[in-house]
Amino acid sequence: MARTVLVTGGNRGIGLAIAQAFVKQGDRVAVTYRSGAAPGTDTPDVETGAGRLFGVRCDVTDSDSVDAAFTAIEAELGPVEVLVANAGITDDTLLLRMSEEQFTGVLDTNLTGAFRCAKRASTKMLRARWGRMIFISSVVGLYGSPGQVNYAASKAGLVGVARSVTRELGSRNITANVVAPGYVETDMTAALPDDRKTEYRKAIPAGRFAAADEVASAVTWLAGDSAGYISGAVIPVDGGLGMGH
Ligand SMILES: NC(=O)c1ccc[n+]([C@@H]2O[C@H](COP(=O)([O-])OP(=O)(O)OC[C@H]3O[C@@H](n4cnc5c(N)ncnc54)[C@H](OP(=O)(O)O)[C@@H]3O)[C@@H](O)[C@H]2O)c1
Repeated sequence: MARTVLVTGGNRGIGLAIAQAFVKQGDRVAVTYRSGAAPGTDTPDVETGAGRLFGVRCDVTDSDSVDAAFTAIEAELGPVEVLVANAGITDDTLLLRMSEEQFTGVLDTNLTGAFRCAKRASTKMLRARWGRMIFISSVVGLYGSPGQVNYAASKAGLVGVARSVTRELGSRNITANVVAPGYVETDMTAALPDDRKTEYRKAIPAGRFAAADEVASAVTWLAGDSAGYISGAVIPVDGGLGMGH
């Protein structure tokens, strides 16, 4: 059965791979982008190899922008039935040097942004008595990482969000889960220095970074009917790095 799916930050990287995977299985898919047109087009729609994505402008740090994006999606595709809270940023530095703005800025996008979207999505999911929320966390959320106190805190926070949503809304056929990728080949990891990448690869039992598609397949599975009894879980897609954490 085709569903209406929203992937925040779905205009590139892991989010775009997730959005394309939903399109391939026949869902109606919206992605958010922040400025200009979505890539590869001068209209908000993104034409992918697999089919069309509906692009909506949205900054997840702004509740009005989140509300407007959901309203636009509802008008075009219907109420959001599957929310993938994927938009995220890093702003790395060691604790001693991290400013309060660097800490709260990352939390505002990665954690509060996901909360804003989950809250807005929940109204219609409750009415439909069906919904799937999938929060894109990181292995770093439970593993920790030097220089990423802000990022790790934001990603660990998503586990608390998913588990509390599960306890609040689980009886209404709404599931909330976390997908925790390890290192994935995207713009975010392209920014890492080569010696750090080599060091990380050595620590990963699989011996390589993930492809974004490998994260997408965990997400589409969690959104499907066959995963209807899975909620409050943290699914690692990390080549064994976090050992199931
Ligand atoms: N890459 C990895 O190795 C890795 C590992 C574990 C977890 N993750 C997580 O996976 C998610 C996607 O990562 P990625 O590697 O694909 O990152 P990316 O290539 O840097 O893309 C980040 C996405 O988030 C969007 N975004 C950022 N701030 C936003 C805001 N305030 N409002 C709306 N959208 C915003 C960006 O939109 P714009 O294009 O408008 O900037 C972009 O679409 C993130 O949550 C990240 O933390 C990534």
